[in-house]
Amino acid sequence: MALIIKPDLEHARPWREVFLETLPEQECREWDRPGDPEAIEYAFVWAPPSGALKTFPNLKCIFSIGAGVDHLLKDPDLPDGVPIVRMVEPELTQGMTEYVTMHVLRFHREGPALEAQQRDRVWNELIVPTAPSRRVGFLGFGVLAQDSARVLNALGFDLACWSRTAKTVDGVQSFRGADGLDPFLARTEILVCLLPLTPETDGILNAGLFAKLPRGAWLINAGRGGHQIEEDILDALESGQLSGATLDVFRSEPLPKESPFWAHPRVTVTPHIASVTQQKSAVEQVAANIRRIEAGEAPLNTVDRVLGY
Ligand code: NAP
Ligand code: GLV
Repeated sequence: MALIIKPDLEHARPWREVFLETLPEQECREWDRPGDPEAIEYAFVWAPPSGALKTFPNLKCIFSIGAGVDHLLKDPDLPDGVPIVRMVEPELTQGMTEYVTMHVLRFHREGPALEAQQRDRVWNELIVPTAPSRRVGFLGFGVLAQDSARVLNALGFDLACWSRTAKTVDGVQSFRGADGLDPFLARTEILVCLLPLTPETDGILNAGLFAKLPRGAWLINAGRGGHQIEEDILDALESGQLSGATLDVFRSEPLPKESPFWAHPRVTVTPHIASVTQQKSAVEQVAANIRRIEAGEAPLNTVDRVLGY
């Protein structure tokens, strides 16, 4: 019986080597050499072609290489009844916390304005408030956002979150559901999107939402490109409703060369690298879950297919 892998990115070491070292009891097969499909019990994948997973009749579990599972749930032929496990691993979380902290601090400390002043050789002593008077809000408050909030809380930021269910986290005001969204937005100067992409969150970063933020707010989107209506971001920047945006994800990736975001003076573009699954700790999580399944236990971090995350 075997595990099949379809990696998303090239790494210095082939994933197969890391699996063989960490989980020697499982035969590990590359995607382009699957062998007998009946032997495949586990799949560790990023964006497999639609219908491909259905060709493995004895699949026991699908492991997403990423935290997001929209790349799997968009497959109309995803095999029914097979659990899907999303990636939760400490280094992926750490990477996102570093990204969010860096870009929140950059906006908070007026980084873009200071960089523009330097370009123009302007000596203008911009006075910035300290963190306790800066209101940061998280759209989505799961594994990744909660760790970022832990660090921003230690720096003293005034934090809030919006999620489907209420949260009780020290130093973070919780807003939930449709009724909670407007008051959450009204108090948020730096908006960090760490939602999963689901039918409910598709296009959530739109003109209507931006209009409910205080004028001159900043946007950081490290969720998914499908969250953003890109024309609306450009319009909100043009009107001054948004002061700036840091975008790691886009509706079309790689971001097309002709996109206006590349050269926009108030947009920072990063190529979907806010956080990247790290091989060793990812394979350790998968190995632990496979051992749970083989011992008759349910895997951890399974996805609710109805909710979409
Ligand atoms: P998670 O633990 O599943 O958290 C998701 C959060 O979103 C939860 O707080 C959930 O609310 C909330 N949510 C979902 N649907 C909602 C809705 N309709 N209304 C309000 N809140 C809703 O996910 P995670 O591990 O933190 O990852 C979040 C996302 O980050 C991933 O799905 C992926 O798209 C993205 N990501 C991006 C990168 C990158 O490099 N750019 C890297 C990793 C992940 P409840 O808590 O109430 O359930
Ligand atoms: C990356 O985008 C992930 O979902 O982990």
